Amino acid sequence: MSDEWIPVARVDEVPEGGTLQTFCEQEVLCLYRLQGRVYATQDTCTHGAASLSEGYVDGDQIECPFHQGLFHIPTGKATGAPCTVDLKVYQVKEQGDEILVKP
Ligand code: FES
Repeated sequence: MSDEWIPVARVDEVPEGGTLQTFCEQEVLCLYRLQGRVYATQDTCTHGAASLSEGYVDGDQIECPFHQGLFHIPTGKATGAPCTVDLKVYQVKEQGDEILVKP
């Protein structure tokens, strides 16, 4: 794990309850905002090649657009079938008008 924070988006690109696909080094990430706080997970579902940024945020969970598997956004835990493998999560912070991620 790197010690470096990498800017990945502007604060206003991630609205409450919304998602944003972004990139950090070689990885594709999905950003979320829940109750004002930003979270980041890997963007690709662990069940298939779906982009979670195209999924549906329901409370603190993201529903995959392909087979409706569920993940808990803050922890990345797989919470609904057919998903059984957790998502990778990233540390996130907001600084000024930027969102930064630690890869
Ligand atoms: S690809 Fe996400 S649930 Fe199947």
